[in-house]
Amino acid sequence: MEKRIYLSSPHMGGEEMKYIQEAFDTNWVAPLGKNVEMFEKEMCDYIGRPYAVALASGTSAIHLGLMYLGVKRGDIVFCSSFTFSGTCNPIMYVGAKPVFIDSDYKSYNMSPAALEKAYEKYPNPAAIVVVNLYGQPAEYDEIRAIAKKHGTPILEDSAESLGASYKGVQTGNFGDISIFSFNGNKIITTSGGGMLMCNDKATRDKVLFWATQSREPFPWYQHEEVGYNYRMSNICAGIGRGQLKVLSKRVEQKRHIHALYEKAFKDNPYIDTVPTFDGADSSFWLTGATLSKDCKATFMDIINALAAENVESRPAWKPMHTQPVFKDCDFVTQLSDAEKKEIGFNSVCEDLFYRSICLPSDSKMTDEEVNYVAAIVNKTIYEKQK
Ligand SMILES: Cc1ncc(COP(=O)(O)O)c(C=O)c1O
Repeated sequence: MEKRIYLSSPHMGGEEMKYIQEAFDTNWVAPLGKNVEMFEKEMCDYIGRPYAVALASGTSAIHLGLMYLGVKRGDIVFCSSFTFSGTCNPIMYVGAKPVFIDSDYKSYNMSPAALEKAYEKYPNPAAIVVVNLYGQPAEYDEIRAIAKKHGTPILEDSAESLGASYKGVQTGNFGDISIFSFNGNKIITTSGGGMLMCNDKATRDKVLFWATQSREPFPWYQHEEVGYNYRMSNICAGIGRGQLKVLSKRVEQKRHIHALYEKAFKDNPYIDTVPTFDGADSSFWLTGATLSKDCKATFMDIINALAAENVESRPAWKPMHTQPVFKDCDFVTQLSDAEKKEIGFNSVCEDLFYRSICLPSDSKMTDEEVNYVAAIVNKTIYEKQK
């Protein structure tokens, strides 16, 4: 195809320039201004949570979130293994140690059974970082019950799940602190940015303080704590305000794309879209698909076949416990030795990594384009199967 099909690229709604223009007209291009304040308020309204702080990235939001939860040098932090490195790098920034937790086949997200098991070895973790992978909420009833029983706070990494809900409640409500990302490939973008959501003003004020270089309320620059330059600019927030206006449309289109893929793979026994589960209403930021154990095509065969047709796709996240940079970190799986033997891997997330792909889920894709991509995938699989 001449026109490149992207995995998930920025998709402007039309009103972004209005807010940017306003910032220019009032000279509020920096440092803050009305767009930042309004973007935070509009996100609070959308998510249904009282406080938000607009930040430079999702990663910086996780960093400040961990600091607020009191995570410090030497602490243990339980963290989903099946995720992007932006989830766990901030654990290292604060000098804590991630202990990675396996996924289950039900949600592809953190396994409640593995989480419970992790307490046997590490009874006092400082926090649990739970990821909502590719737009799918984690199993929060179970995870929150375990966290509550052990008195551990949750940081919900909803970077990929804006617009998704769990049992009727928007993701971004399930952590003591929750975060979003607005980087270029997310469901809505501010070109780069993030948001921290919380329940009380004291949290919001403290995070804001750290994000703006920990300036004490003195007439001169007075600093009593280390600070960060993590605030979102008024221009980026203007893009975000315009993007929020079309968020519902974007979620609808992502779900529509997912439904088209599901239909296209219905009769193919070698591939399935990522399963959903009761109570989860995924935003399908990316439609993931998993190959069956007896499929002869590999995820790279499919990625290469799509690339040859100018279509972007990518592997699932390579689990963090298998990354060289985290080789010294512990990992907990719920699998027994017999189960490991049966699946041929030491973890569910490795098994899924080696059999999954992220299909192009760009909200600008037409139905014809989605079907065209699905047809390449089906053809690649059947050719290998011969
Ligand atoms: C699951 C997850 N966590 C964290 C991040 C980090 O967000 P950012 O790129 O805005 O720093 C991302 C995305 O990039 C992500 O997908």
